[in-house]
Amino acid sequence: MVSGAKNSALKLMAASLLAEGRTVLANVPRIADVFTMTDVLRHVGASVDFLGDVMAIEVPGQLNSEAPYELVHRMRASVNVLGPLLARQGHARVAMPGGCNIGSRPLDLHEEALGRMGASFHFDHGYLEGVTSGLTGRRIVLEFPSRGATENVLTAATLARGRTVIDNAAREPDIVDLARFLCQMGAQVSGAGTSTIEIEGVEAMTPATYRVPSDPIEAGSLALAALATRGEVELLGARAAELDVFLSKLAASGARWRSTVAGVEVGIDHRPNAVDFATLPYPGFPTDLQAQMIAYLCTADGTSIVTENVFESRFAHVAELGRMGADVRVEGHQAVVRGVPRLEGAPVTAHDLRGGVALVIAALGAEGDSVVHDIHHVERGYEDLPDKLRRLGAEVEAEVEAWSDAVDPSFDPL
Ligand code: UD1
Repeated sequence: MVSGAKNSALKLMAASLLAEGRTVLANVPRIADVFTMTDVLRHVGASVDFLGDVMAIEVPGQLNSEAPYELVHRMRASVNVLGPLLARQGHARVAMPGGCNIGSRPLDLHEEALGRMGASFHFDHGYLEGVTSGLTGRRIVLEFPSRGATENVLTAATLARGRTVIDNAAREPDIVDLARFLCQMGAQVSGAGTSTIEIEGVEAMTPATYRVPSDPIEAGSLALAALATRGEVELLGARAAELDVFLSKLAASGARWRSTVAGVEVGIDHRPNAVDFATLPYPGFPTDLQAQMIAYLCTADGTSIVTENVFESRFAHVAELGRMGADVRVEGHQAVVRGVPRLEGAPVTAHDLRGGVALVIAALGAEGDSVVHDIHHVERGYEDLPDKLRRLGAEVEAEVEAWSDAVDPSFDPL
């Protein structure tokens, strides 16, 4: 069963700050990033109960307006509280996320767009501080369809005066979910899922109940885990429509896939063909599946050219794959993957979330044992991964204790 989507759950949690009262989210994945966002919400004054996959967030009338460095540096999505805090409190102080292992990831688009709506920003000892005496709806043209910037403008605009139009908005499914959730809270949003989103500001919003949809990136990762071992899997809860380009690339590699009543089934029983692909904002090939797809193509028949267009440096996994016998060369924004007949198990190190799971996928298909170090990167975004892989038939001696420990040992689910 595919878990709830990390990138939806985090945005819905941040957006809950827009309304005083009790929001309830279902199908929330129990992963480290969700626990970090729980800490962020608590830090700004909300109380959070998380039992099983159901999370209740009680938001008070007055909030603190700071997301501190200790939390933002653990997870960039903490900056998603910027829009809601500015809209509700007229003030937000968010630590700058700084660089990370996949590139510099600045906040300039967020700042520029919210600035046009009447917020003024300054930098203060590593923090981006925004103040406003009231946001006003504007036409915002994003230079790049950034998901985070689209989300912060969208949430801020729900309580702004007048109409906001976001042009060149991100179109990812999590934006559509966020907009649906906001509408349930009483916001007036249309066009989410297209490049133009319109928001008519309202006076106040009310809490809502919402079910987090399944995670397309987890679905894609598990599909590649099965294909790397030349096996098959039915991904219960997966939605093919969200993975169009990815699935067409799997088909081009010689894998079969079909939608079933319960999800999506994929399989392959021979060595895959090489496939070229380029990452792009949705509906293009997701950058969050680039590393895993490279891991799969390492043993393809032929040479694949992979172009990374979304992040400036997202190939840290390539050197580690080389330790397993892969033949991949990085040239600027491109990786040239020369397929080898098989990989060999080896000790390797995860440097980021998706690159880390790529190493797990490569290890599953490799001959012999592998040890993936710094697995905490993977624990940020994959619920019960060792268990799910075992159910696929893999021999995983993951330190399951470490896995659950990483999910906040001090956390009291009640
Ligand atoms: C989100 C996802 C992440 C995914 C990424 C791209 C979440 C929690 N994370 O991250 O998994 O890999 O989308 O699909 O949903 N940029 C700027 N200035 C800005 C904002 C972004 O230059 O102000 C650049 C970034 O450096 C990056 C590109 O735009 O190169 C995409 O960033 P963005 O879409 O904002 O990604 P995130 O929302 O951070």
